[in-house]
Amino acid sequence: MDVHTQIPLKNYTTMRLGGPARFMSEVHTAAEVGPVCKNALAQNVPIFVLGGGSNVLAHDEGYAGLILRNRIPGFEVIADTPADTTIKAGAGENWDEVVRRTVKMGLSGIEALSAIPGTAGAAPVQNIGAYGQEISETLVSLEAYDMKTDQHVVLQNADCNFSYRDSIFRSTAAGRYVITSITLQLSKDAPQPPFYKALQDYFDTSGVTFFTPQVIRDAVTAIRKEKLPDPKERPNVGSFFKNAIVEDWQLTDLKNQYPDIPTYDLPDGRFKIPTGWLIEQTGLKGQLINGIRVHDKNALVLINESATSFSDLDAARKQVAGAVRDTFRITIEQEPLEIV
Ligand code: EPU
Repeated sequence: MDVHTQIPLKNYTTMRLGGPARFMSEVHTAAEVGPVCKNALAQNVPIFVLGGGSNVLAHDEGYAGLILRNRIPGFEVIADTPADTTIKAGAGENWDEVVRRTVKMGLSGIEALSAIPGTAGAAPVQNIGAYGQEISETLVSLEAYDMKTDQHVVLQNADCNFSYRDSIFRSTAAGRYVITSITLQLSKDAPQPPFYKALQDYFDTSGVTFFTPQVIRDAVTAIRKEKLPDPKERPNVGSFFKNAIVEDWQLTDLKNQYPDIPTYDLPDGRFKIPTGWLIEQTGLKGQLINGIRVHDKNALVLINESATSFSDLDAARKQVAGAVRDTFRITIEQEPLEIV
């Protein structure tokens, strides 16, 4: 197995920022993962697992450890009943390719997660979600290498402790597991309305009344193309911040001042407020801050237009978060992880 040294992380992250990784290596099978990790850890070299680099930020000083690029392939049907089909995908597979294949099989459950960049193995880490679906709703289990115990383990859905854009892989167990495959149970039933508002609006405008996974996939792909910049052309990590979650007393206060504030009810009695809306109210939408553009079609997205360093991005994100805090007294959280 090849180990490369001093590799610029800006070439491996879609924000296109970040200094050199001390070591970088690729794994192509689950069996390779244990020996690589054990070897690095024995020499006190920390490990960061990288998928597509589309939801991580790298610092200017780079990473003084091993970047493990997960390239483990695989796509197989492991169970099939009249109602559903269970598939297992290698963690290194391109996520959208997994969605494309399941949609082609007529399966429903991840079609609204179309056109999300990144790998299958990264999808559970931040519990990817879009247009009314979250991967936590279809993920049965995943296989991973546990660096702490040097064992290959199977984690069930409940073990992952999924919530909005969160799981154990970015909280309590951050840095512990290398996910090697994911198992999803997908339905043979046709998707049913009501759909997520932006999706329903799209169907209403285009007169679509017959819904299949492919119809949903095509609509989501078109909507995303319109609203979200292609990271290959305009470096970005999708939503840069999570949507804000507030208590009902906070919302009552906010509504007095901003009667039109958009909100979504959460099952626990709290409310989600689109951070894109909050940023837009501060007047920063479309602005260029230190080479970072606040996207003019969705203020939740920061685009690296001409920033040359992570510190440019750091200054820009602080300005955006500071403006939201000053205007609304809401502290917004960053969505992408940092390679540290
Ligand atoms: N809005 C504004 N101004 C803006 C942006 C949004 O007013 O500049 C308001 C609009 O009222 C809109 C609402 O925010 O109705 C929601 O916007 P949108 O449907 O575009 O979704 P979002 O909240 O900006 C979230 C996810 C996206 C996901 C979409 C669709 C997060 C952090 N982001 O964005 O996920 O694609 O919903 O479901 O939850 C990602 O995580 O990288 C990502 C792109």
